[in-house]
Amino acid sequence: MSDPKRILTGDRPTGRLHLGTYVGSIQNRLRLQDQFKCYFIIADLHTLTTQPEKEHIEGLRENIQEMVTDYLAVGIDPNKSTIYLQSAIHAVFEMNLFFEMLVTLPRLARLPSIKDMARAAKMDAEAIPFGLVGYPILQAADILMPRAHLVPVGKDNESHVEVTREIARRFNTYYGETFPVPDVLVGDVPTLPGTDGQTKMGKSLNNAIYLSDDAKTVEKKVRGMFTDPNRIRADIPGKVEGNPVFDYHDAFNPDAEEVADLKARYQKGSVGDVEVKQKLTTCLNTFLDPIRERREEIEKQSGYVEYVIYKGTLEMQEIAQETLAAMRKAMGLAGLWNRISRKGRDWAKKTEQSELTS
Ligand code: TRP
Repeated sequence: MSDPKRILTGDRPTGRLHLGTYVGSIQNRLRLQDQFKCYFIIADLHTLTTQPEKEHIEGLRENIQEMVTDYLAVGIDPNKSTIYLQSAIHAVFEMNLFFEMLVTLPRLARLPSIKDMARAAKMDAEAIPFGLVGYPILQAADILMPRAHLVPVGKDNESHVEVTREIARRFNTYYGETFPVPDVLVGDVPTLPGTDGQTKMGKSLNNAIYLSDDAKTVEKKVRGMFTDPNRIRADIPGKVEGNPVFDYHDAFNPDAEEVADLKARYQKGSVGDVEVKQKLTTCLNTFLDPIRERREEIEKQSGYVEYVIYKGTLEMQEIAQETLAAMRKAMGLAGLWNRISRKGRDWAKKTEQSELTS
C-alpha cells in the first residue's frame, strides 16, 4: 500500500447493484483499493430508517448476499479491502449517540436527501422518523470509525459527508484532535439517468440495468430505452444532450471515436436509434461479461461471501473498539467511570461486599 490514507464507503443492502452505483461510486473504489486501505460498509442499519419492519429485516440476508456477490464480481478484492456488516459493530450505536450532540436539528432537517429518501419510501413529511433525520449522523459514525480520510460516494451522499466533516471538526474542537476531516470524492458520472430518461437510475424507480442482468435482459432494456422523443424517424436530427442513450455511451463505450461519430450522425439525422442502441448493448455486454463470469464462480463457492463478511467484520470490531475508547478518553467519560468504579471497588473490598470482591 503506497499511501497510509484510509477510505470508507458503502451501500445500503437493497439487493443487486446497478450501473448507476457502478459509475457513481464503485468505479472509484476499484481505482482506490490498490492505493489506500479501503473499508466497505454493508449499511444494514441505515435501511431501518425507512423500513424498520421485521419482514424487511428478514429480507436483509438475501440482499446482503446479492450486494456483496456484486462487490466481489466487479473486482473488489477482499485481500486488500475490508467488507463489514454495520449492525454487528456495537460501537457504532454509541458513536452515533455522541455525534448526535454535535449537530443541530435544523441543519439535518434542511437536507434535501432526507426528504428524497422519505419520498422514495412513500412516506409523508409528518411520518418521517427521528432515525431518518439522523441518517447522516449514523453515516458520520461509519466514516469516522476507521478515521477515514476520503469518502467516495454518489452525488446524493455528498451532503452527508459535509455533515460528517462538521461533526469531526466539532468533536476535535470540543475534545481535542481525534478525527481527520474526511474529503468527499464523487464519481465520474455523478448521476446516471434511468433507462426511462428520469434523472436517476434507482431500484425503486424500475429503470435500472443491473450488473447481474444477463445479455438478453440488457438488450431488451436498451431497446426499450428512452431517447429523443421528437425523433420519430432516423432522418430527423436528434438531440444528444439529455438523451440517456448517449449518457450511457459516454460512461461505458471505451471507443471515444465511435461515440463522437454516433453523436455527430445522430445530430445530423444520419443514424437510426436502432444502431445507436445496438452499439450500446454490445458495449454494456462486453463490460458485463467478465463480471457475470466472476459472479458465477463466486456463487459456486457456498460460504465464501459469508467468510469475506465475517473476516471484515471481526477486523472492524477491533478498530471500532479502539476508536470508541479514544473517544471516551478524549471526552473524559473513561476517566469519569474509572474514578467512580475505583472508589466503589475499594468500598466493596473494605466492607466485604461478597458479590463484588472476587
Ligand atoms: N448512505 C449510503 C447510501 O446511500 C450508505 C452509507 C452508509 C454510506 N454509511 C456510509 C456511504 C458511509 C458512505 C460512507 O446507501
